[in-house]
Amino acid sequence: MRRFPSKLPEVGTTIFTVMSRLAAEHSAINLSQGYPDFSPPPRLVELVGAHMRAGANQYAPMPGWLALREAVAQQVLAIHRRSICAESEITVTAGGTEAIFCAVQAVVHPGDEVILLEPAYDSYEPSVRLAGGTAVRVPLMRPRFDVDWERVRSAIGPRTRLLVVNTPHNPSGAAFARCDLEALADAIRGTDALVLADEVYEHMVYDGGLHHGMLGHEELAGRSLVVSSLGKTYHATGWKVGYCIAPAELTRELRKVHQFVQFSVASPLQAAFADFMTEAPAHRLELAAFYQAKRDHFCGLLGRTRFRCRPSAGTYFQLADYSAVSDLPDVEFTRRLTIEHGVAAIPVSVFSAPPPAERLVRFCFAKDEATLDAAGERLAQI
Ligand SMILES: Cc1ncc(COP(=O)(O)O)c(C=O)c1O
Repeated sequence: MRRFPSKLPEVGTTIFTVMSRLAAEHSAINLSQGYPDFSPPPRLVELVGAHMRAGANQYAPMPGWLALREAVAQQVLAIHRRSICAESEITVTAGGTEAIFCAVQAVVHPGDEVILLEPAYDSYEPSVRLAGGTAVRVPLMRPRFDVDWERVRSAIGPRTRLLVVNTPHNPSGAAFARCDLEALADAIRGTDALVLADEVYEHMVYDGGLHHGMLGHEELAGRSLVVSSLGKTYHATGWKVGYCIAPAELTRELRKVHQFVQFSVASPLQAAFADFMTEAPAHRLELAAFYQAKRDHFCGLLGRTRFRCRPSAGTYFQLADYSAVSDLPDVEFTRRLTIEHGVAAIPVSVFSAPPPAERLVRFCFAKDEATLDAAGERLAQI
């Protein structure tokens, strides 16, 4: 075959796949990739089977199963007191990932600039590049990973089309306060910039904090594409079901892309989620307490090691500083941690370009207590 130019020459296999593979090869406890090692609620699984048997096996409507979109609209009303039109403002996607990709393709034109706050989830930048846009990177402030709104403001220019925010934030576990919404609204007021808000961890905010998402802010709700993930909320990441909420005008554009990327999402899964969200609102209401207990347990275990941590405000990730353990750069450190000590984690530098020199790794605590205990024991030996 003749050589052809790659559209994403620097992109290799994602770090999540690399670390999970390494963990499997070395029988390490895998706290790298972000998924639970426990099952979704049994009733939800039962509903999927029931809908398959009842015939929900053909293409779902392109924008999503209406009952599921209505359940999402009900939830938004309950949480944010905002009325969303299930018909014209909600699109069900193949996970948050597809929603992010379609949102970027829908609004970013060649030559547009997109502001990314780093460390940033790894799918944003390639999506921007494939749309012909350019990423403009603004680092989050250490050690708390707050947004430096002054820097955001100065990064915004006439070509800024989109600002990507992620709250609660992967990998840092930081979460927006109400004043961040005000600062964001202020920064883009009078510009043409839209917001892509990755809120896939919206139900995982700890210590009594609230999730401050775009839908809770009048001005931002009017110019945001908000992405969520049912996989994250219902311990079913492998089902890849998510959604995007956006004003009708933006939703129309998003669906033009979605219909040629995915067209529609697995029917029995959507039908089951629609039933379960209606039947069991307690699941999402109890999720924060469920994961906070895991966070506290894991931070307690880290307290017996030489890793240092500041408990996450949200997500199911915990950052840990390993400077008392090793001088190695984080990519090499996580390799050694996996191979020699049997615990896989994600190096944090891979979420930024160029990678900053810091001694931080990300652990996923969406695991059974026994898994966390076993990992804690191994980490305490280092
Ligand atoms: C910040 C963030 N956004 C989006 C996603 C993708 O979500 P999904 O699995 O629903 O595609 C993830 C998954 O890890 C994530 O951490």
